[in-house]
Amino acid sequence: MTQTARVEGRAPPAIAAYAFSDADFQVIARRAQADFGLHLTAAKKDLVYSRLTKRLRQLGLADFTSYCRLIETPDGEDERMQMLSALTTNVTHFFREEHHFRILREQVLPPLIAAARNGGRVRLWSAGCSAGQEPYSLAFTVLLMCPEAARFDIRILATDVDPVIIGRAKAGVYDDEELKSLPDGVRSQHVVRTGDGKFSIGEKARALVSFAELNLMQDWPIKGPFDVIFCRNVAIYFDKETQARLWGRFADLLPVGGYLCIGHSERVAGPASARLENTGVTTYRKSAASNADRTSRPEKGISR
Ligand SMILES: C[S@@+](CC[C@H](N)C(=O)[O-])C[C@H]1O[C@@H](n2cnc3c(N)ncnc32)[C@H](O)[C@@H]1O
Repeated sequence: MTQTARVEGRAPPAIAAYAFSDADFQVIARRAQADFGLHLTAAKKDLVYSRLTKRLRQLGLADFTSYCRLIETPDGEDERMQMLSALTTNVTHFFREEHHFRILREQVLPPLIAAARNGGRVRLWSAGCSAGQEPYSLAFTVLLMCPEAARFDIRILATDVDPVIIGRAKAGVYDDEELKSLPDGVRSQHVVRTGDGKFSIGEKARALVSFAELNLMQDWPIKGPFDVIFCRNVAIYFDKETQARLWGRFADLLPVGGYLCIGHSERVAGPASARLENTGVTTYRKSAASNADRTSRPEKGISR
Protein backbone atom coordinates (compact mmCIF):
# COMPACT_ATOMS: atom_id res chain seq x y z
CA MET A 1 0.00 0.00 0.00
CA THR A 2 1.34 3.42 -0.89
CA GLN A 3 1.60 6.29 1.56
CA THR A 4 -1.18 8.14 -0.33
CA ALA A 5 -3.54 5.19 -0.18
CA ARG A 6 -2.97 4.85 3.56
CA VAL A 7 -3.74 8.53 4.13
CA GLU A 8 -6.83 8.40 1.91
CA GLY A 9 -8.07 5.32 3.78
CA ARG A 10 -8.16 7.15 7.11
CA ALA A 11 -11.34 8.67 8.51
CA PRO A 12 -11.38 12.39 7.74
CA PRO A 13 -10.30 14.53 10.67
CA ALA A 14 -13.29 15.59 12.83
CA ILE A 15 -12.27 19.25 12.63
CA ALA A 16 -10.96 20.82 9.44
CA ALA A 17 -7.66 22.65 9.85
CA TYR A 18 -8.02 26.32 8.94
CA ALA A 19 -5.10 28.59 8.19
CA PHE A 20 -4.84 31.11 11.07
CA SER A 21 -1.96 33.54 10.84
CA ASP A 22 -0.77 35.93 13.56
CA ALA A 23 -2.10 38.76 11.39
CA ASP A 24 -5.58 37.12 11.39
CA PHE A 25 -5.39 36.78 15.16
CA GLN A 26 -4.51 40.47 15.48
CA VAL A 27 -7.53 41.50 13.37
CA ILE A 28 -9.84 39.44 15.61
CA ALA A 29 -8.20 40.65 18.82
CA ARG A 30 -8.42 44.32 17.75
CA ARG A 31 -12.05 43.98 16.70
CA ALA A 32 -13.02 42.12 19.90
CA GLN A 33 -11.30 44.85 21.93
CA ALA A 34 -12.85 47.76 20.05
CA ASP A 35 -16.41 46.44 20.00
CA PHE A 36 -16.68 44.52 23.25
CA GLY A 37 -13.67 45.40 25.39
CA LEU A 38 -12.41 41.81 25.23
CA HIS A 39 -8.77 41.39 26.14
CA LEU A 40 -7.21 38.72 23.92
CA THR A 41 -3.47 38.34 24.45
CA ALA A 42 -1.30 36.34 22.03
CA ALA A 43 -1.46 33.45 24.53
CA LYS A 44 -5.15 33.12 23.67
CA LYS A 45 -4.52 32.41 19.97
CA ASP A 46 -5.19 28.66 20.28
CA LEU A 47 -8.31 29.30 22.32
CA VAL A 48 -9.60 31.77 19.71
CA TYR A 49 -8.90 29.21 17.00
CA SER A 50 -10.81 26.46 18.78
CA ARG A 51 -13.76 28.71 19.65
CA LEU A 52 -14.15 30.16 16.14
CA THR A 53 -13.57 27.15 13.85
CA LYS A 54 -17.22 26.17 14.35
CA ARG A 55 -18.23 29.57 12.94
CA LEU A 56 -15.97 29.12 9.91
CA ARG A 57 -17.47 25.69 9.28
CA GLN A 58 -21.04 27.01 9.61
CA LEU A 59 -20.29 29.92 7.30
CA GLY A 60 -18.49 27.68 4.76
CA LEU A 61 -15.35 29.83 4.91
CA ALA A 62 -12.00 28.41 3.81
CA ASP A 63 -9.72 30.23 6.23
CA PHE A 64 -9.47 32.85 8.96
CA THR A 65 -8.45 35.55 6.50
CA SER A 66 -11.94 35.26 4.92
CA TYR A 67 -13.47 35.36 8.42
CA CYS A 68 -11.51 38.51 9.25
CA ARG A 69 -12.70 40.10 6.02
CA LEU A 70 -16.30 39.34 7.02
CA ILE A 71 -16.11 40.79 10.53
CA GLU A 72 -14.43 43.93 9.23
CA THR A 73 -17.31 44.78 6.85
CA PRO A 74 -20.38 46.77 7.92
CA ASP A 75 -22.46 43.65 7.03
CA GLY A 76 -20.42 41.68 9.51
CA GLU A 77 -22.30 43.03 12.52
CA ASP A 78 -24.27 39.84 13.13
CA GLU A 79 -21.10 37.82 12.85
CA ARG A 80 -19.32 40.10 15.30
CA MET A 81 -22.06 39.25 17.80
CA GLN A 82 -21.65 35.54 17.04
CA MET A 83 -17.91 36.00 17.55
CA LEU A 84 -18.53 37.56 20.96
CA SER A 85 -20.80 34.67 21.95
CA ALA A 86 -18.16 32.18 20.85
CA LEU A 87 -15.36 33.96 22.73
CA THR A 88 -17.18 34.52 26.01
CA THR A 89 -19.15 32.18 28.22
CA ASN A 90 -22.72 32.49 29.42
CA VAL A 91 -22.11 30.27 32.44
CA THR A 92 -24.37 31.30 35.29
CA HIS A 93 -26.77 29.80 37.80
CA PHE A 94 -29.44 30.83 40.26
CA PHE A 95 -28.05 32.41 43.45
CA ARG A 96 -24.50 32.20 42.13
CA GLU A 97 -22.02 33.59 44.68
CA GLU A 98 -24.63 33.36 47.40
CA HIS A 99 -22.85 35.81 49.71
CA HIS A 100 -24.17 38.73 47.65
CA PHE A 101 -27.75 37.57 48.16
CA ARG A 102 -27.09 37.20 51.89
CA ILE A 103 -25.81 40.80 52.00
CA LEU A 104 -28.92 41.88 50.14
CA ARG A 105 -31.19 40.12 52.64
CA GLU A 106 -29.31 41.24 55.75
CA GLN A 107 -28.08 44.76 54.95
CA VAL A 108 -29.11 46.20 51.64
CA LEU A 109 -32.77 45.45 51.07
CA PRO A 110 -34.34 46.16 54.49
CA PRO A 111 -33.85 49.96 54.30
CA LEU A 112 -34.61 50.04 50.56
CA ILE A 113 -37.86 48.16 51.01
CA ALA A 114 -38.81 50.36 53.93
CA ALA A 115 -38.23 53.36 51.64
CA ALA A 116 -40.31 51.75 48.88
CA ARG A 117 -43.16 51.15 51.32
CA ASN A 118 -43.04 54.89 51.99
CA GLY A 119 -43.33 55.74 48.31
CA GLY A 120 -39.60 55.66 47.45
CA ARG A 121 -38.07 54.37 44.28
CA VAL A 122 -35.76 51.31 44.30
CA ARG A 123 -33.70 50.21 41.31
CA LEU A 124 -31.40 47.21 40.88
CA TRP A 125 -29.37 46.43 37.77
CA SER A 126 -27.97 43.09 36.64
CA ALA A 127 -25.41 44.10 34.00
CA GLY A 128 -24.29 41.08 31.97
CA CYS A 129 -27.28 39.00 33.10
CA SER A 130 -26.73 36.04 30.76
CA ALA A 131 -29.80 33.74 30.60
CA GLY A 132 -31.59 35.53 33.45
CA GLN A 133 -30.73 33.45 36.50
CA GLU A 134 -29.06 36.45 38.19
CA PRO A 135 -31.90 39.00 37.82
CA TYR A 136 -34.53 36.39 38.70
CA SER A 137 -32.49 35.53 41.81
CA LEU A 138 -32.60 39.25 42.66
CA ALA A 139 -36.38 39.23 42.13
CA PHE A 140 -36.82 36.15 44.35
CA THR A 141 -34.78 37.86 47.07
CA VAL A 142 -36.86 41.05 46.84
CA LEU A 143 -40.08 38.99 46.99
CA LEU A 144 -38.82 37.05 49.99
CA MET A 145 -38.42 40.34 51.86
CA CYS A 146 -41.47 42.03 50.34
CA PRO A 147 -44.05 39.66 48.82
CA GLU A 148 -46.18 42.60 47.70
CA ALA A 149 -43.23 44.29 45.88
CA ALA A 150 -45.30 44.76 42.70
CA ARG A 151 -47.37 47.39 44.53
CA PHE A 152 -44.29 49.55 45.09
CA ASP A 153 -41.80 51.29 42.82
CA ILE A 154 -39.24 48.49 42.87
CA ARG A 155 -37.70 47.41 39.55
CA ILE A 156 -34.82 45.28 38.33
CA LEU A 157 -33.13 46.07 35.02
CA ALA A 158 -31.34 43.13 33.37
CA THR A 159 -29.06 43.69 30.38
CA ASP A 160 -26.65 41.71 28.24
CA VAL A 161 -24.87 42.36 24.97
CA ASP A 162 -25.93 39.03 23.48
CA PRO A 163 -29.40 39.20 21.88
CA VAL A 164 -29.81 35.41 21.89
CA ILE A 165 -29.12 35.16 25.59
CA ILE A 166 -31.43 38.10 26.34
CA GLY A 167 -34.15 36.21 24.41
CA ARG A 168 -33.60 33.21 26.69
CA ALA A 169 -33.61 35.39 29.78
CA LYS A 170 -36.91 37.02 28.77
CA ALA A 171 -38.46 33.63 28.05
CA GLY A 172 -37.47 32.59 31.60
CA VAL A 173 -37.78 28.88 30.86
CA TYR A 174 -35.27 26.46 32.36
CA ASP A 175 -34.76 22.74 32.64
CA ASP A 176 -34.62 20.74 35.83
CA GLU A 177 -30.81 20.74 35.91
CA GLU A 178 -30.68 24.55 35.74
CA LEU A 179 -33.03 24.83 38.73
CA LYS A 180 -30.81 22.74 40.99
CA SER A 181 -29.37 25.74 42.83
CA LEU A 182 -32.84 27.09 43.67
CA PRO A 183 -33.86 26.64 47.31
CA ASP A 184 -36.97 24.38 47.55
CA GLY A 185 -39.14 27.17 48.94
CA VAL A 186 -38.31 29.49 46.04
CA ARG A 187 -38.92 26.74 43.52
CA SER A 188 -42.33 25.83 44.90
CA GLN A 189 -43.39 29.48 45.07
CA HIS A 190 -41.95 31.01 41.92
CA VAL A 191 -41.49 28.27 39.32
CA VAL A 192 -44.24 26.62 37.29
CA ARG A 193 -44.06 23.48 35.17
CA THR A 194 -44.64 24.19 31.46
CA GLY A 195 -45.90 20.79 30.33
CA ASP A 196 -42.97 19.91 28.09
CA GLY A 197 -40.74 18.94 30.99
CA LYS A 198 -39.46 22.52 31.41
CA PHE A 199 -40.07 25.11 34.09
CA SER A 200 -41.07 28.73 33.79
CA ILE A 201 -40.46 31.65 36.14
CA GLY A 202 -43.72 32.75 37.76
CA GLU A 203 -45.48 36.05 37.11
CA LYS A 204 -44.63 37.76 40.40
CA ALA A 205 -40.88 37.56 39.76
CA ARG A 206 -41.18 38.38 36.05
CA ALA A 207 -43.20 41.50 36.84
CA LEU A 208 -40.22 43.01 38.65
CA VAL A 209 -37.66 42.49 35.88
CA SER A 210 -37.23 44.21 32.51
CA PHE A 211 -34.68 42.96 30.01
CA ALA A 212 -32.76 44.88 27.36
CA GLU A 213 -29.77 44.42 25.09
CA LEU A 214 -26.87 46.57 26.16
CA ASN A 215 -23.21 46.53 25.25
CA LEU A 216 -21.32 47.81 28.29
CA MET A 217 -18.65 49.17 25.94
CA GLN A 218 -21.05 51.60 24.30
CA ASP A 219 -23.26 54.45 25.47
CA TRP A 220 -25.82 53.50 28.08
CA PRO A 221 -29.30 54.99 27.53
CA ILE A 222 -29.72 54.84 31.29
CA LYS A 223 -29.57 57.67 33.77
CA GLY A 224 -29.94 55.81 37.05
CA PRO A 225 -29.48 56.06 39.92
CA PHE A 226 -29.34 52.37 40.82
CA ASP A 227 -29.32 51.41 44.47
CA VAL A 228 -27.61 48.12 43.64
CA ILE A 229 -25.59 47.08 40.59
CA PHE A 230 -24.59 43.48 39.99
CA CYS A 231 -21.91 43.15 37.31
CA ARG A 232 -20.42 39.77 38.04
CA ASN A 233 -18.10 37.65 35.92
CA VAL A 234 -18.30 40.07 33.00
CA ALA A 235 -15.37 42.49 33.52
CA ILE A 236 -13.09 39.46 33.74
CA TYR A 237 -12.99 39.54 29.93
CA PHE A 238 -11.86 43.17 29.79
CA ASP A 239 -8.40 44.67 30.07
CA LYS A 240 -7.45 46.75 33.13
CA GLU A 241 -8.17 50.15 31.54
CA THR A 242 -11.57 49.01 30.27
CA GLN A 243 -12.38 47.62 33.70
CA ALA A 244 -11.31 50.86 35.39
CA ARG A 245 -13.56 52.88 33.07
CA LEU A 246 -16.45 50.51 33.75
CA TRP A 247 -16.11 50.82 37.54
CA GLY A 248 -16.13 54.61 37.14
CA ARG A 249 -19.28 54.51 35.01
CA PHE A 250 -21.02 52.32 37.58
CA ALA A 251 -19.94 54.66 40.37
CA ASP A 252 -21.54 57.54 38.42
CA LEU A 253 -24.87 55.68 38.50
CA LEU A 254 -24.83 54.83 42.20
CA PRO A 255 -26.13 57.18 44.89
CA VAL A 256 -23.93 57.61 47.94
CA GLY A 257 -24.36 54.35 49.89
CA GLY A 258 -25.32 52.38 46.74
CA TYR A 259 -23.80 48.94 46.23
CA LEU A 260 -21.71 47.39 43.45
CA CYS A 261 -21.29 43.60 43.50
CA ILE A 262 -18.70 42.05 41.17
CA GLY A 263 -17.47 38.56 40.30
CA HIS A 264 -15.31 36.38 42.53
CA SER A 265 -12.13 36.92 40.51
CA GLU A 266 -12.67 40.64 39.88
CA ARG A 267 -11.52 43.67 41.85
CA VAL A 268 -12.30 47.37 41.64
CA ALA A 269 -9.09 49.24 40.83
CA GLY A 270 -8.13 52.55 39.26
CA PRO A 271 -9.61 55.99 39.99
CA ALA A 272 -13.06 54.62 40.90
CA SER A 273 -11.60 52.86 43.93
CA ALA A 274 -11.53 56.29 45.62
CA ARG A 275 -15.31 56.40 45.30
CA LEU A 276 -16.12 52.72 45.85
CA GLU A 277 -15.27 51.41 49.28
CA ASN A 278 -14.73 47.67 49.64
CA THR A 279 -17.24 46.62 52.32
CA GLY A 280 -17.25 42.82 51.92
CA VAL A 281 -16.24 40.01 49.59
CA THR A 282 -16.40 41.52 46.06
CA THR A 283 -18.87 44.06 47.45
CA TYR A 284 -18.37 47.83 47.18
CA ARG A 285 -20.29 50.82 48.45
CA LYS A 286 -20.22 54.31 47.05
CA SER A 287 -18.59 56.40 49.73
CA ALA A 288 -19.99 59.60 51.18
CA ALA A 289 -16.63 61.26 50.51
CA SER A 290 -17.22 60.87 46.80
CA ASN A 291 -17.32 64.28 45.13
CA ALA A 292 -18.53 62.91 41.82
CA ASP A 293 -22.04 61.92 42.79
CA ARG A 294 -23.91 62.85 39.64
CA THR A 295 -26.89 60.59 40.16
CA SER A 296 -29.80 62.58 41.44
CA ARG A 297 -31.86 62.54 38.21
CA PRO A 298 -34.67 60.06 37.59
CA GLU A 299 -33.72 57.34 35.13
CA LYS A 300 -34.70 57.48 31.47
CA GLY A 301 -34.25 55.22 28.46
CA ILE A 302 -34.36 51.42 28.67
CA SER A 303 -34.70 51.26 32.42
CA ARG A 304 -38.21 51.44 33.82
C1 LIG B 1 -20.17 34.47 32.55
S1 LIG B 1 -21.63 35.37 32.18
C2 LIG B 1 -22.00 36.05 33.77
C3 LIG B 1 -23.48 36.00 34.09
C4 LIG B 1 -23.87 36.48 35.50
N1 LIG B 1 -23.54 37.86 35.68
C5 LIG B 1 -23.21 35.62 36.55
O1 LIG B 1 -22.27 36.07 37.19
O2 LIG B 1 -23.62 34.47 36.70
C6 LIG B 1 -20.95 36.78 31.30
C7 LIG B 1 -21.99 37.55 30.49
O3 LIG B 1 -21.41 38.79 30.11
C8 LIG B 1 -21.91 39.14 28.84
N2 LIG B 1 -21.00 40.13 28.22
C9 LIG B 1 -19.76 39.95 27.71
N3 LIG B 1 -19.29 41.09 27.18
C10 LIG B 1 -20.24 42.03 27.39
C11 LIG B 1 -20.36 43.41 27.06
N4 LIG B 1 -19.38 44.06 26.40
N5 LIG B 1 -21.48 44.06 27.42
C12 LIG B 1 -22.48 43.41 28.08
N6 LIG B 1 -22.45 42.10 28.40
C13 LIG B 1 -21.33 41.41 28.06
C14 LIG B 1 -21.95 37.81 28.11
O4 LIG B 1 -22.83 37.85 26.99
C15 LIG B 1 -22.40 36.85 29.20
O5 LIG B 1 -23.79 36.65 29.18
